Amino acid sequence: EFPEYVKMIEVGPRDGLQNEKEMVPTRVKIQLINMLSETGLPVIEATSFVSSKWVPQMADHTEVLQAIHRSSHARYPVLTPNMHGFQDAVAAGATEVAVFGSASETFSQKNINCSIDDSMLRFEEVICTAKQQQIPVRGYVSCALGCPYEGPIEPTKVAEVVKRLYELGCYEVSLGDTIGVGTPGSMAKMLQYVMKEVPSSALAVHCHDTYGQALANILTALQMGICAVDSSVAGLGGCPYAQGASGNVSTEDVLYMLHGMGIKTGVDLSKVIEAGDFICKALNRKTNSKVAQARSKS
Ligand code: HMG
Ligand code: MG
Repeated sequence: EFPEYVKMIEVGPRDGLQNEKEMVPTRVKIQLINMLSETGLPVIEATSFVSSKWVPQMADHTEVLQAIHRSSHARYPVLTPNMHGFQDAVAAGATEVAVFGSASETFSQKNINCSIDDSMLRFEEVICTAKQQQIPVRGYVSCALGCPYEGPIEPTKVAEVVKRLYELGCYEVSLGDTIGVGTPGSMAKMLQYVMKEVPSSALAVHCHDTYGQALANILTALQMGICAVDSSVAGLGGCPYAQGASGNVSTEDVLYMLHGMGIKTGVDLSKVIEAGDFICKALNRKTNSKVAQARSKS
């Protein structure tokens, strides 16, 4: 049984671009988001309010968030690792934020410079403050199917961290296969544990396609009742603290699969392909989307 509707969360402008070595001009980021806003995507993660010493590419977060044309049909969450980021985000006009934790202790240290326990204290403060301002908070759990430093991660550990974020008040927790090592087998097993703690309606999957397993993993998650999927236009992306992590699953490929199965998304695939063409030209790069490659040949 597959869901009738899947909510697509576009992470290209953030996850897709954060790892680019050369600074992507702010106007290019703004145009990308504006083009994505025209596609019908319900959620577009716009940027992150992290330290520009850690992730220089996201230093123009305020300019980006203030200049984009926001569609009344879309939401524009931004990453906020701590109160500093949260306050800057709200000052820049953010109306939704996301905190990002990890199921791996080592990855937590490398990515946000603190332990999992300390990160939860920081997130609690962000989530409580956000709640007072009626700002919804999404959560991420990285390394849900493996860690670049620790290898396999116990599904019980993933379930524990997801539960903590959910209980702190995240309305949805996205399960990140940060380095794309999962298979339908490990995805199913991890979800079995996580869904004992948190309802599937509050979960999303965030797959990277490093080992070419992303679509199969997403299909597995849908079969198990997940109906929110993170993806990145043109399959751009990778985390700066996960060496070797390739791009996210491409939005175009996920849409092609879902629409082919008769699942509604409200997103116009052709318009996403156009946005993908635009950003690939700007980055002087070939798309990672198979669907976009096939369409450009015909
Ligand atoms: P820290 O150095 O431990 O922070 O960094 P600190 O609290 O000790 O402060 C040190 C300095 O940073 C201070 O400035 C703070 O003001 C400043 P100074 O006094 O030295 O001038 N600072 C900040 N500046 C701007 N924005 C902030 C901020 N916080 C403190 N928010 C911190 C801790 C979390 C900031 C740092 O580790 C960081 O920025 N990490 C970012 C990591 C990141 O963006 N990773 C990529 C996103 S996660 C991902 O891609 C995975 C995901 O896609 C899911 C998946 O695929 O699995 C989500
Ligand atoms: Mg990611």
